[in-house]
Amino acid sequence: MLDAELATHAELATRIRPSQPGGANLIFRRCERDTSVKKAGSATDPLWYKDAIIYELHVRAFQDSNGDGIGDFPGLISRLDYLQDLGVTCLWLLPFFPSPLRDDGYDISNYVEVNPCYGTLNDFKLFLDAAHQRGMQVLIELVINHTSDQHPWFQAARLAPPGSPERDFYVWSMDNQRFKEVPIIFKDTEKSNWTWDETAGSYYWHRFFSHQPDLNFDNPAVMEEVLKAMRFWLDMGVDALRMDAIPYLYERDGTRCESLPETHAAIKRIRAAIDEGYSNRIILAEANQWPTDVRPYFGDGDECHMAFHFPLMPRIYMALRQEDRLPITDIMAQTPPIPDNCQWALFLRNHDELTLEMVTDDERDYMYYAYSADPRMRINVGIRRRLAPLVDNNRRRIELLNSMVLSFPGTPIVYYGDEIGMGDNIYLGDRNGVRTPMQWNPDRNAGFSTAVPAKLYFPVIMDPIWGYQAINVEAQLSDQSSLLHWTRNMIALRKLFQVFGRGTLEFLSPANRKVLAYIRSYTSPDGNTETVLCVANLSRFAQAALLDLSDFAGMIPVEMLGYVPFPPITDQPYAITLTPYSFFWLELQTAPEAPRPPAPISEEDAAKAAMGPLDAPAEVPPTVWTPDAPEPRTPIKS
Ligand code: GLC
Ligand code: CA
Repeated sequence: MLDAELATHAELATRIRPSQPGGANLIFRRCERDTSVKKAGSATDPLWYKDAIIYELHVRAFQDSNGDGIGDFPGLISRLDYLQDLGVTCLWLLPFFPSPLRDDGYDISNYVEVNPCYGTLNDFKLFLDAAHQRGMQVLIELVINHTSDQHPWFQAARLAPPGSPERDFYVWSMDNQRFKEVPIIFKDTEKSNWTWDETAGSYYWHRFFSHQPDLNFDNPAVMEEVLKAMRFWLDMGVDALRMDAIPYLYERDGTRCESLPETHAAIKRIRAAIDEGYSNRIILAEANQWPTDVRPYFGDGDECHMAFHFPLMPRIYMALRQEDRLPITDIMAQTPPIPDNCQWALFLRNHDELTLEMVTDDERDYMYYAYSADPRMRINVGIRRRLAPLVDNNRRRIELLNSMVLSFPGTPIVYYGDEIGMGDNIYLGDRNGVRTPMQWNPDRNAGFSTAVPAKLYFPVIMDPIWGYQAINVEAQLSDQSSLLHWTRNMIALRKLFQVFGRGTLEFLSPANRKVLAYIRSYTSPDGNTETVLCVANLSRFAQAALLDLSDFAGMIPVEMLGYVPFPPITDQPYAITLTPYSFFWLELQTAPEAPRPPAPISEEDAAKAAMGPLDAPAEVPPTVWTPDAPEPRTPIKS
């Protein structure tokens, strides 16, 4: 988006900021609905999250509207057109609640307010409405395992006598010997999961930082408060909640205090409250565990709608580095089926380190060796780097990894800045190196803020390779070959096919293990079948492979970016060649005698796809079509 446009949006946001009735009333009206009726979400399809493309961002890092060096809601509103053009359909906001910010906002001191540095509650509502108007859903954080030690509940608890209801909000012990089996998560900073509180004269329990005391779910009043906070945001119209650190709600002697039956019962209770009062809202589990251990978080379709696939992520990087598909096929083979109404959330990078908890010791050593040459790149059990630096700024590798996350079963998540290949700053502490300001243009502070540079919450990245003069949205919008344009086109293409979000997965096993090949297939309730063959070359050299596609003999693979028909499939092995790090998405179409009707697509997507890249003149579809060729979908410019 141009800066002139940005100014207009920012101005608009500020102008309507001081409690102007219009926008706010809209929302209040929604809250006042009859409670016997379920409160509708912004999405119409109850399974909307299966077709979603999630974009993860921090309000603080996105756009500063008032020159204080900190991103805010009016700033974010001014950038919504950019996100809409990118094609993402759901915005995941990192915590924006009042907080001492010692864990980037995951240390919450008030669940039902907005941190004043990001704006007001009314600003949030304006944002929510603006996102909904653009057809985007909104996912926010529900961090219920712990609060900040500055939360009034904790302040009251430490002053209250042992055994009192106030004290009971947290988990206390006179010694630090209980729950000895429980591992420490932030190994770099914490020595124990217990910390002594002088005022209370007792130890309190914490799974994360010592300034984040764990709430005591054995106290029913805690669950009541959690439900209250949850309803506060759902009533306002929030579509989805990420359940942070969800395995650790309960503690029991002699266990690792992880995934206890009591914890699952609590999640079911939360889910039941959502299903009872609301429609088309979802919860997403953050459970950094093996797929079989995560499986129970879906319950019988009555716990979380979604869960992150943590072990897949490092294995994608491992497969790339080893030029071998095994790490990927192996972890997918260990991934159990999930209920029909559930979905995996897939990602390449996020706001945390690339966690290596879900790999073996050998694999961890390998990953450290391959991806973190400088010890500064390591933190806790992981690597704190962004996507582009992890793959040495190699465009083909970035595209290859994205092609996988966009075509594996699940809902893909794009971490802000990765769509332009932003770098990181390993000289910042904690995981802050991957949380620097979004790079919009080559102006002061990357167009993120008009503050003096020293005032920014974190410095923008400035070196010659990753700096904002080299990598920014404005430049990439005007460059038709940019990563941004590529990402946008891939997102648009994916959105034309429901098979990616909803279909089955079956790996092929060509003898050449540098080639990863899989079939995605989906038959919609109206009987329309989509079958896609994905082939990826994990190697830095060209590769060839023979694929057994005999089940599809007679069909024609059509390359989906250019609608280019490939030779028909026979019952003989299908030969395919790939340039280094390249991939194909091939739709398997029936032979031309029986052309298939194109699947329905939204008018908006059709228009966008037909338009080609942003700011580019609309292009004529590729002219490879002859009367005998298979039917094209809406053309996408490659
Ligand atoms: C989650 C968040 C992480 C945070 C931790 C403690 O793992 O992703 O950023 O530090 O919870 O709240
Ligand atoms: Ca600001």
